[in-house]
Amino acid sequence: MVDYIVTVYTSDLAFAGTFNNVHIKLVGTDGVSNRTWLLGLKGPLSFYKGAVSSFTVSCPVSIGKLILIEIEGQPLITFFTDNWFPAKVEVKSPEGDTYNFPIYRWLTNSEVHRFREGTALRVFEDTHDLGKYSRNEELKERKEDYCWKEYLEGTPHCMKSEDPLDLPDEVQFSFTKTTEFGYTAATGLSALGLSGISDSTENWPDMDTLNRVSCCKLTDILEYVQKHWKEDAFFGYQFLNGINPMLIQRCSVLPNNFPVTDDMVFLSGQHSLADEMEKGNIFLCDYKRLDGLIPNIINGMKQYLMAPLILLHKTPDDQMMPIAIQLKQTPADDNPIFFPTDSEYDWLTAKIFVRSADFNEHQLNVHLLRTHLLAEVFAVSLLRNVPMVHPLYKLLVPHTRYTLQINNLARGLLISKTGIFTKFAASGGEGMKTILKRSLSSVTYRSLCIPDDIADRGLEDVPNFYYRDDGLQLWEIIHRFVQGVLNFYYKNDDEVQKDTELQTWISDIFEHGFLSQPSTGIPESFTTVAELVKFVTMVIFTCSGQHSAVNTGQFDYGGWMPNNPVTLKRAPPIKKGTTSENTMLRTLPDINTTVQGMSTVWLLSRQSTDSVYLGQYPEEHFSDKMPCKLTKDFQGDLQVLSAIINARNNNLKVPYTYLDPKVIENSVSL
Ligand code: FE2
Repeated sequence: MVDYIVTVYTSDLAFAGTFNNVHIKLVGTDGVSNRTWLLGLKGPLSFYKGAVSSFTVSCPVSIGKLILIEIEGQPLITFFTDNWFPAKVEVKSPEGDTYNFPIYRWLTNSEVHRFREGTALRVFEDTHDLGKYSRNEELKERKEDYCWKEYLEGTPHCMKSEDPLDLPDEVQFSFTKTTEFGYTAATGLSALGLSGISDSTENWPDMDTLNRVSCCKLTDILEYVQKHWKEDAFFGYQFLNGINPMLIQRCSVLPNNFPVTDDMVFLSGQHSLADEMEKGNIFLCDYKRLDGLIPNIINGMKQYLMAPLILLHKTPDDQMMPIAIQLKQTPADDNPIFFPTDSEYDWLTAKIFVRSADFNEHQLNVHLLRTHLLAEVFAVSLLRNVPMVHPLYKLLVPHTRYTLQINNLARGLLISKTGIFTKFAASGGEGMKTILKRSLSSVTYRSLCIPDDIADRGLEDVPNFYYRDDGLQLWEIIHRFVQGVLNFYYKNDDEVQKDTELQTWISDIFEHGFLSQPSTGIPESFTTVAELVKFVTMVIFTCSGQHSAVNTGQFDYGGWMPNNPVTLKRAPPIKKGTTSENTMLRTLPDINTTVQGMSTVWLLSRQSTDSVYLGQYPEEHFSDKMPCKLTKDFQGDLQVLSAIINARNNNLKVPYTYLDPKVIENSVSL
């Protein structure tokens, strides 16, 4: 007889343990062990939360190299389901080899579950019959569990599930995340002490009242925003380092529908637009996606959402100053172009309309569509098409954590018929659907890859642009890691081309995420290793850094409502000289709309105690030495970047922290 020492690690998640009788069968290249009951000295406590328990499985002779294990938990009491979350199983063979079997999922029934040994295997090198069989069975099951659904025509497809609890257990929130999350408007309102005024449909009587209401739960940045929101330099700064750094672009030719002339913006005559454009000092933000939308009706009142154009001038002292704002796309007498030289409230009102347009553009396009919905597409395609033993699964599955559930909740609680955005955002309802559709048709592969995106927007040498500085470094670090891992598994382009699972993953993304539009530039298939590396880098960057850049600061920049109004309820001035503090107060959202917006951005910026930060892989899916070493290098690089960002931030009035690896989560989970 020969002995195999089997060590079972039960996860330390809440309720991960089981009192089930656990049986195991080892499958090797030369034979199979008997189905063996894992009965140890600890008895029924062998599989409690966090337990590590060893057992002996004896075979008459060696069964060769281990391929997989079959594991099953029989309930102590019939019909009593006792869910179990094993982390991994380690087996020491009589030859002295150690085999690692990653599991990291809930086992919720008494059926036989097969898990492959941790060495990554592409489909064309998986030659063992039972190995191949279990690979196909796993994908067959997953295709039943993870199905595509069209949520809204013209937008990325999503995971078919009516309720978060319908999702497979393996992708649901942990108990900790569920209890902390409390994703309801009431939670946010009470945490911010706003419940008492959440039914008031009145105007804000004065700025002082608004100030006092907004004073609880201040973050340092929110406090800064509250003090400086009216300043032009800060207005311009937010296009670079606020929560929407995705719209600003260098302007070399004025759009035909924005007839700004030199004498309008350079009164002293020392500059000309042509010269400044030539020098690369003029920038444009164009919210044309918001043009012509049917705005919401809130508290029985028609709302207003503009599609502004903003011209900015980089001054010799490196400030990004707004020099002209036109609130509607079509030039007309009743669509004046506003300037900093206009009356205080004309200019401030124009800026408030821009910030409100930005709330809607940011939430729907930049945040929801370009990070949440795309991350879900990458995840569903991975889960349907790529088995656990595949290197791509091992690399990407940590970057899918909680995404399906958070998106399910976002669809139900934010953008459904009764959702908070639908009820309280200017674009709520039909407008929101139009923005999402227009947004997808504007997404290109290049715009998802920060080095290409920055180059295409002409922003390579804009000073004080921390989103770009940190984002490019982060991209480089992720790229180096992904390249190392994928070059280890794919020695040449031919191996990429013949990996049918990899090819189905990308073709499903092309079809269901980008609706088979070749104009997006999204690959339909992979031809080279380099193409694969770039795409996977983009996936990890989008799910981690990009989401953090557009998510983490929502309360910082949106908690003070006038800086980021969810809607506005008075038409913009059609003539100059008609505004005052009073018209501004009547333009800002009602009290209930304001506090609903504040509580939502607060909830959406809150981190959970079970967050997993970028580059941390507590689930050890890889067994091969090389990816484990590359993971350590990756973590080291991220630490260095974090230190660089920290040192830089020490010298800034407004620190830019959203791309600090210490605050970036691995996945879109909030
Ligand atoms: Fe988010």
